[in-house]
Amino acid sequence: MTRTLRTATLLVHQGRDRDPATGAAVVPIYPASTYHHTAGKPGEYDYARSGNPSRDQVEEAIALLEGGVRGFAYPSGMAAIGSALALLKSGDHLIAPDDLYGGSYRYLSTVLPQQGIEASFVDVTDLEAVAAAIRPRTRAIFLETPSNPLFKITDLRGIAALARERGLLTLLDNTFMTPLLQRPLDLGIDIAIHSATKFLGGHSDLLAGLATTADPEIARRLKFFHNAFGAVLSPFDSFLLSRGIKTLKLRLEAGQQGAQILAERLQAHPAVARVYYPGLEGFAGRDLHFSQAAGAGAVLSFELKERKGIVPLLERVQLPIIAPSLGGVETILTHCWSMSHAAIPASVKEQLGIRETLVRISTGIEDPEDLWDDLEAALAP
Ligand SMILES: Cc1ncc(COP(=O)(O)O)c(C=O)c1O
Repeated sequence: MTRTLRTATLLVHQGRDRDPATGAAVVPIYPASTYHHTAGKPGEYDYARSGNPSRDQVEEAIALLEGGVRGFAYPSGMAAIGSALALLKSGDHLIAPDDLYGGSYRYLSTVLPQQGIEASFVDVTDLEAVAAAIRPRTRAIFLETPSNPLFKITDLRGIAALARERGLLTLLDNTFMTPLLQRPLDLGIDIAIHSATKFLGGHSDLLAGLATTADPEIARRLKFFHNAFGAVLSPFDSFLLSRGIKTLKLRLEAGQQGAQILAERLQAHPAVARVYYPGLEGFAGRDLHFSQAAGAGAVLSFELKERKGIVPLLERVQLPIIAPSLGGVETILTHCWSMSHAAIPASVKEQLGIRETLVRISTGIEDPEDLWDDLEAALAP
């Protein structure tokens, strides 16, 4: 399969769309941990940590979808992030967004320092602030855009150009957009990373991570670490992920439509102070977002005017599951303060504008009118 096919087609057919041995319409789950070495010589596969046909399918898929030379599948998004950051070594310095996803913040602020790698958390939407944070030992810039949960938009082309000029590696967590809406490697980013647990898997039944790069030398180093460290996606989970990827376009487009409707109605609701969604007219960063992405996505946040409204909202709302995740076929409502961003100290959250009154919604594929009826009832005085 080649990248000349359009994304919707690639999502369905991926790198391989049938079993070469039998013609079966689905690549089988190969649970084998090892492979026969005929006359003592390894064939295409020798041991499952180094390679497995089920995993190859999703690794080829992410490389094709993002325009990478090779893809890597991990057992979680955090394993993908940690494995990509293993390209750094003791003494290196890293720049990351000040409003990073809580789990990534925890990894960068606690685990990496133990390995002698220091991270500075800066407002990456400000190119001058990023340039000012570069030190002689800076080796990489880690990004998320839109940021989560406040949807700050970072100029990917601008950061990529600055990083190239200064010889820095760039990594982007593309979980919120997926390759359907944003293709970071085309914009000059070195490594695209996903928590495939979210939209790519799409059914809240799987934990997985993916990474890809267009640079053969970076791919070689990621491949070496993947096998050496062994954080590889299992064959069964690879099958589930491949199946989820096939319907990404339908799911994400439906969720995005619902998110737009909810964002506009929430904005007009008397209990709501503010809505964060790049699809809204006049939203800060909207033009920049649409200069590098093809859609606003299916996640939005809103802030209630009053703190006392949060508990009744969480008690009354019926349709969404209330949970720290996103990207499922079902709508997921997250109280970021206590869930997705619990790992960030309260004072830092307050400084960043992540308030206790903030709620995030990942819109699923339900009828948006039902979602609105449910939310409106839960928000009633
Ligand atoms: C933006 C983002 N990146 C990474 C992760 C971590 O992914 P996982 O839970 O698959 O390890 C998450 C999880 O919520 C996330 O939202």
